[in-house]
Amino acid sequence: MTRVLVTGVTGNVGYEVAKKLQEMFVDMVGAVRNIEAARSKLGDEFTYVKLDYRSPETFIPALDGVNRIFLMFPPETDLPHFHSFIRCAKEQGIEHIVYLSVKDVQFLPFIPHYKNEKEITRQKISSTFLRAGYFMQNLNMFLLDELKTNNRIYVPAGRGETSFIDVRDVAEVAALTLTEEGKHRDKKYAITGNRSLDFYDVARVMSNILGRTITYSNPSIRDFKAYMVEIGLDESYVNAVVGVHIPTKLVLLELKRIARIHLQGHDGRFAGYRCRSFLKRATQSGIRIRVVFL
Ligand SMILES: NC(=O)c1ccc[n+]([C@@H]2O[C@H](COP(=O)([O-])OP(=O)(O)OC[C@H]3O[C@@H](n4cnc5c(N)ncnc54)[C@H](OP(=O)(O)O)[C@@H]3O)[C@@H](O)[C@H]2O)c1
Repeated sequence: MTRVLVTGVTGNVGYEVAKKLQEMFVDMVGAVRNIEAARSKLGDEFTYVKLDYRSPETFIPALDGVNRIFLMFPPETDLPHFHSFIRCAKEQGIEHIVYLSVKDVQFLPFIPHYKNEKEITRQKISSTFLRAGYFMQNLNMFLLDELKTNNRIYVPAGRGETSFIDVRDVAEVAALTLTEEGKHRDKKYAITGNRSLDFYDVARVMSNILGRTITYSNPSIRDFKAYMVEIGLDESYVNAVVGVHIPTKLVLLELKRIARIHLQGHDGRFAGYRCRSFLKRATQSGIRIRVVFL
């Protein structure tokens, strides 16, 4: 019997993974820091168990009765805590971990995802690494306030191009790799959208959809941090946002890449699987943002 522990179920990707697993009638439980808070946010949609990486006493109860994990890394988490959870998962006999990583992680040894992948591999746990590109949903999250108030995209991404991926597509691949893990054991999949765009392109697309001019400010990392802290955002959160944009700024992400999810270690299973196009999704995002503007 498969039973999946979905971490980060109150967040963007975890929520979509949990929904997808439920659609597929896969037994799952959502790991949350605060069960009451999760219920008031998501209702009784899922069953929950407490898991907080800062509280090792929550590890074994959270792992009780599950054999697979969708594992995401909350950016503010200390690595030693997260790695002790991975070791505990090994000790508890977890059969497969699908880990949400970041695209081009193999070139970025200084970021936590690199070390997290290494720890899972070191523990010899069967795994699939989902190396996701830049989330489309970022436009509706940490970019939204500046879009609404100042009509600008304000992120330190330089002139780098990135291939936006919808988190629902990431979740769909996660659900498949959790349920057909034999086919995806010890594979590393880079999951991207279907076009590479820089943020000047994105500003143009958004201007067309919204009917008003959106600009891309291309701030330096230093200016970005100073501004965000000045308007009251928490410094560790600002650092996490900077971290999301470093691969793009370094132009590590592909320039003109094939128009579909690109899977390293591809075994044919996902051949022809196409993700939502940027324009289609941008239209959806645009509508949503327009609603927020009204
Ligand atoms: N943004 C991008 O473009 C991008 C691209 C590729 C990969 N990624 C990676 O994706 C991950 C973020 O995914 P997301 O956007 O789905 O996350 P998210 O929406 O920010 O949600 C974070 C989740 O982590 C949980 N959490 C926080 N601290 C915790 C702790 N100490 N113990 C247990 N759970 C904790 C939160 O639960 P509570 O309800 O308790 O707060 C929440 O469910 C990061 O690792 C990021 O590097 C992001």
